[in-house]
Amino acid sequence: MSITVRAAAKINLHLGVGRARDDGFHPLDTVYQAIGIHDDLTLTQADRLSLTTRVADHIDPAAVPDGADNIVLRAARALAAHHGVTASGAFEVRKDIPVAGGMAGGSADAAAALVACDRLWDLHTSDDDLLALAAGLGSDVPFSLVGGTARGLGRGELVTPVDDGGAWWWVAVPSTAGLSTPDVYRHFDALRPDAPEVPASAEPVLAALASREPVRLARALHNDLQEPAVDLRPELGDLIDLGEAEGALRGMVSGSGPTVVFLCDSAEGARETAGALAGAGHGVVLTATGPVAGAHVLA
Ligand code: C5P
Repeated sequence: MSITVRAAAKINLHLGVGRARDDGFHPLDTVYQAIGIHDDLTLTQADRLSLTTRVADHIDPAAVPDGADNIVLRAARALAAHHGVTASGAFEVRKDIPVAGGMAGGSADAAAALVACDRLWDLHTSDDDLLALAAGLGSDVPFSLVGGTARGLGRGELVTPVDDGGAWWWVAVPSTAGLSTPDVYRHFDALRPDAPEVPASAEPVLAALASREPVRLARALHNDLQEPAVDLRPELGDLIDLGEAEGALRGMVSGSGPTVVFLCDSAEGARETAGALAGAGHGVVLTATGPVAGAHVLA
C-alpha cells in the first residue's frame, strides 16, 4: 500500500521581521502564499524507514540534505513518537521546489510527510496536534500544512488563513547556489541593530489582497530580509531590476532568498516576463499562480 501527498512552495507577500527574541528566533508578522510549484512525496509500506529523492532538472541533487536528519525522516519520527508507534515506510520525494531557495521546500516535504504518515499509519491525528508537531519541525511547516494565503505571527508558526479571492501570477527565478536562512537572519541583525521589537504590520498587504488588484498588491509587497539577502548576493538586486524592466509589476526576494519572485498583471504578463528573463540568460524561470492548496493527498 502507498500514498502520495503533494505540497506547495511558499512565498512571503509581507515579511516583517523584529529584533531577535531571547530564544534567538525573530518575531514575524508575515503573509504567506502557497504557489503552484510542488514537491510530491510517496510513502510505501515497508519494514524499515528509508528515503530516496528525485529532483527536477533545475535542482542540484547534491544540494538536497540526505541521511537521518533529513526533515522528512524527522517528521516521520516525530509523529511516531507522539503516538508511541514505530516509524516505518519507504519515502520517495520528487522535488520541483528550489532547494535552500527561500520557498520552504524542506518545510513542504515535512508537511507532506506528516500527512502521508498520518494516513498510511491510520493515526487520525487532530489538526491541532499536527500543527504543533509541524511547528516543532520548523517555523514554516504549519503554513505548508494549511496552504492558501495565511498570516503568520510568532516566529511564523502561528498561522491564520486569510480570505484571498485573487488569482495572482508569479514568475520565480531560483539561484543555482542556495542561501542559508540563519546566515540571512544574522546579516539582518548586523544591518538592523535598531530593528523594532514589534515587526512591521502586514495590514497593507492584507488590504491589497482584499482589493484583488495586482497593481495595489505590487505596491504593498514588503520583505525585511531582502536588504540582507541582496547585500550578501548583489546580483539579486540586478535580477529584480531586470524583471521589473521586462514588464513585471514588482520583483522581490522570496523569504530569505535567493529565489526572486515577480508579481505580474496576468498570465500573458507572466509568460512575457519569464521569456525575457530566460532570454537574458537566466536558465531556470518558473511561472506559477497562487494561492494553491496546502499538503494534500493525491492518490
Ligand atoms: O524554524 P526554522 O528551523 O525554519 O528556522 C531556521 C533558522 O532560521 C533558525 O534557526 C533561525 O536562525 C532562523 N529564524 C529566525 N527567526 C524566525 C525563523 C527562523 O531567526 N522567525
